[in-house]
Amino acid sequence: MGEITNVMEYEEIAKQKLPKMVFDYYASGAEDQWTLAENRNAFSRILFRPRILIDVSKIDLSTTVLGFKISMPIMIAPTAMQKMAHPEGEYATARAASAAGTIMTLSSWATSSVEEVASTGPGIRFFQLYVYKDRNVVAQLVRRAERAGFKAIALTVDTPRFTLPPFLTLKNFEGLDLGKMDEANDSGLASYVAGQIDRSLSWKDVQWLQTITSLPILVKGVLTAEDARIAVQAGAAGIIVSNHGARQLDYVPATIMALEEVVKAAQGRIPVFLDGGVRRGTDVFKALALGASGVFIGRPVVFSLAAEGEAGIKKVLQMLRDEFELTMALSGCRSLKEITRNHIVADWDAPQ
Ligand code: FNR
Repeated sequence: MGEITNVMEYEEIAKQKLPKMVFDYYASGAEDQWTLAENRNAFSRILFRPRILIDVSKIDLSTTVLGFKISMPIMIAPTAMQKMAHPEGEYATARAASAAGTIMTLSSWATSSVEEVASTGPGIRFFQLYVYKDRNVVAQLVRRAERAGFKAIALTVDTPRFTLPPFLTLKNFEGLDLGKMDEANDSGLASYVAGQIDRSLSWKDVQWLQTITSLPILVKGVLTAEDARIAVQAGAAGIIVSNHGARQLDYVPATIMALEEVVKAAQGRIPVFLDGGVRRGTDVFKALALGASGVFIGRPVVFSLAAEGEAGIKKVLQMLRDEFELTMALSGCRSLKEITRNHIVADWDAPQ
């Protein structure tokens, strides 16, 4: 295997390593996969307006998210069942994130528990939550996450229906060599849990959640100004502009295109984050120039995990960090605060 030089190369390696249906589950988007391609393509419609002759001998990438100091504005999005990618699954992700000094979000549908992830050592971690019909189950999950030292809840609001990947039944696993997957993924439980997702979830549940926990709540899956305003009113501590990695509703815009209207609607009252298609340090810069306080990455984590385990995820975080730092230097920005809207031009901007 040659030296990896950019994050996207891990996808091809994962494709060669993983059983086809597992790879397809990770890589695919909904229906025509228009939004999947658009999440990437839209970044290429934003160009830089670099400033020159600025002393960039010292560059500070660090930032604060919900009061927690992290080394860079690049964090890990929740992705389900990471032991399908690698036997160490979420353990590897947790270790790589804390080594990089950044935040990991653990999926509700992880193959490791909150306690197990906490046992890997110190680190700032968020817990992603789906709301189930039985609110008592939700309350117990939140309590466990709190006790395990998780610092925030990322409430996923774009998934009123979950189509279970067809291979997530034990039957379809027969004859496959998936390592620990068979014990890690009790398919009976998985389909039961997916069926328990509450489609009646509404904004009043966001308020209810605040009555059962003092953890800050990030609303994950906002794509419009209208919903951003309601999220602020409903007491959200932050918004994640996300289209679930283009896995839910096809033909929603790329998240990078929806970002600016959400940022404007939030009026600086709560931070706005973005996930979807972030694969380059330049993408991180573009998101911050459009007002994001940070970004999260999904697939690059599972692909690099599949390819090289913990070392792979560390490499991904390091490559994104290096590229982002270089982008800052070449644009004349020494700190995140210095990244402005004037450092980019989008093809949807009015002519000057
Ligand atoms: C996801 N995503 C996701 N989101 C969530 O809230 N809970 C979950 O369990 C999962 N699981 C999951 C599995 C896989 C395989 C993927 C690819 C994605 C969505 C995820 O948090 C994030 O929104 C996207 O992955 C971001 O887009 P990129 O970085 O994958 O392009």
